[in-house]
Amino acid sequence: MPLPALRGTMAITATSTSAAMQPTMLPDVPATAPERIAPDTWLIPNLAPAGDGGFLPANSMVIRGREPVIVDTGAPVHREQWLEKVFSVVEPEDVRWVFLSHDDGDHTGALFDVLERCPKATLVTNFFSVERLKIEKPALPLARMRWVEPGGSFDAGDRVLKLFRPPVFDGPTSRGLFDASTGAMWIVDSFPCFTPGPLDADDMPQELLAQVMPALSSAISPWHAWLDPAAYMRHVDAVEALGARTVASAHGPVLRGERLDDAFDRLRALAGMPIIPTPGQELLDTLLAPTLAEAG
Ligand SMILES: [Fe+2]
Ligand SMILES: [Fe+2]
Repeated sequence: MPLPALRGTMAITATSTSAAMQPTMLPDVPATAPERIAPDTWLIPNLAPAGDGGFLPANSMVIRGREPVIVDTGAPVHREQWLEKVFSVVEPEDVRWVFLSHDDGDHTGALFDVLERCPKATLVTNFFSVERLKIEKPALPLARMRWVEPGGSFDAGDRVLKLFRPPVFDGPTSRGLFDASTGAMWIVDSFPCFTPGPLDADDMPQELLAQVMPALSSAISPWHAWLDPAAYMRHVDAVEALGARTVASAHGPVLRGERLDDAFDRLRALAGMPIIPTPGQELLDTLLAPTLAEAG
């Protein structure tokens, strides 16, 4: 999710999105480490500065079952620390599956490293992701792939992992992943929120979740404004009915229980609502003011 700086409707504002584009400039980012969030399931967290003490999560996940699965491959700015974190949880030669939720750059940062270092891994993706990646990256190995659509699944030895279309998404190829054996769900770009540091929604200010999650959801999926609330509710209900107990998001905190119920309700409320505006020239002027003052 290429994230716009958001300002006005939330406490946290972006002042350094350009810094997040440069791997050598990630100052004062809280240290994060892989975290077990459900049985056999590890969050691989990374944060990018989002200004005013806020950070944008850029997470991925590892399922360490009989046939280990890497779920997304991180953002390019985090490539080195991502590789270090993932392979502290699973040995490269043990990895049997790489699930690519969609082809956005912040989910494909270490894709080629993983394919090279994990020779036994099959890439779970789809036709359109491969087509879109063709004009962006070197050719992917078709013989190492499996194409699975929403509603489909793949068998990772001791569990069947089910794909679904996430409730909001910023790329047409997006597919979430649900592990019914543990209740863990990867919901891709849905449920985004800046964080002051915590990776779990229970440890975050609730007003921050209430303000920022809808604003970022609107930013990544502005088509909510044209949704029929009843039709959209059926889609959100279907995702919720999968029965996840732990939901991990690429760009938000881990959600469970009441926090998860709230997150689904916030999405339902967006259907038919006006687009929440993202910042414009006024923010750019503010960001540039110190530099211009220095120059002048
Ligand atoms: Fe995305
Ligand atoms: Fe993303």
